Amino acid sequence: MGMKKIIVGNWKMNPVELSDAEEILREVAAGTGGFSGVNIVICPPFTFLENLVTLSSKKIAIGAQDCFFGSTGAYTGEVSAEMLRGMGVKYVIVGHSERRALGDSDELINKKVASALSSGLKVIICVGEKERDDSGEYLNFIRKQLTVGLNKIRKSLLKNLIVAYEPVWAIGKNAVRVNTPEDTLEVSIFIKRVLVEMFGREGGIKVPILYGGSVDTNNCEGFLRDGKADGLLVGRESLHAVNFIKIIRIVNEL
Ligand code: PGA
Repeated sequence: MGMKKIIVGNWKMNPVELSDAEEILREVAAGTGGFSGVNIVICPPFTFLENLVTLSSKKIAIGAQDCFFGSTGAYTGEVSAEMLRGMGVKYVIVGHSERRALGDSDELINKKVASALSSGLKVIICVGEKERDDSGEYLNFIRKQLTVGLNKIRKSLLKNLIVAYEPVWAIGKNAVRVNTPEDTLEVSIFIKRVLVEMFGREGGIKVPILYGGSVDTNNCEGFLRDGKADGLLVGRESLHAVNFIKIIRIVNEL
């Protein structure tokens, strides 16, 4: 049997009420009970983490959408990876394009990744170009996100690293178009190649590559089957329990 697929739900700044957050998680848990081929991760806003951790299980882990580096210090408004770990959070998304748009640089992301990995969290680092060009410049852009974002990461921590490829132009309500499985395959091969250059074949090849950006019940299969993704990072559709369960079911049956 191959590696279990990873399905991450990124709730972004939703929902407003804790009761709604609990309801979605309960529904997803109830609807995916018998699925053995997937690892599910739900990433709610910080305020719901503690409550949702109590509802988490072996199959559904809880992740944060960002973290800061260091363990404590004079960083008003920030939450450290170590604090998250202490709370029972298992995963953290770092470098999401919406965080990058708010100012997270590759250098800052690198510090966050290093800190989160040393704290024992599994890290989902997001990379992806803002636009596609014909000359292949977008691949250089992704290469830089990886080489700077993962600079000096210890090889022994790579087992807790996941890369999510999310072309910015395919994310959210304003997506230009949906990415194709062929595009996904091309870029995930490229990402693997850069990881192997950085960490050697042993370490680099095993890092799972997820696809994210306008994933829904209709296109999810293609990204895994033809795009050969190791899993999915799902935004909008992860807030609709019924659709999210459908996506997970499709992936589980592949
Ligand atoms: P989307 O978001 O599925 O709503 O496009 C994906 C993401 O930003 O992680």
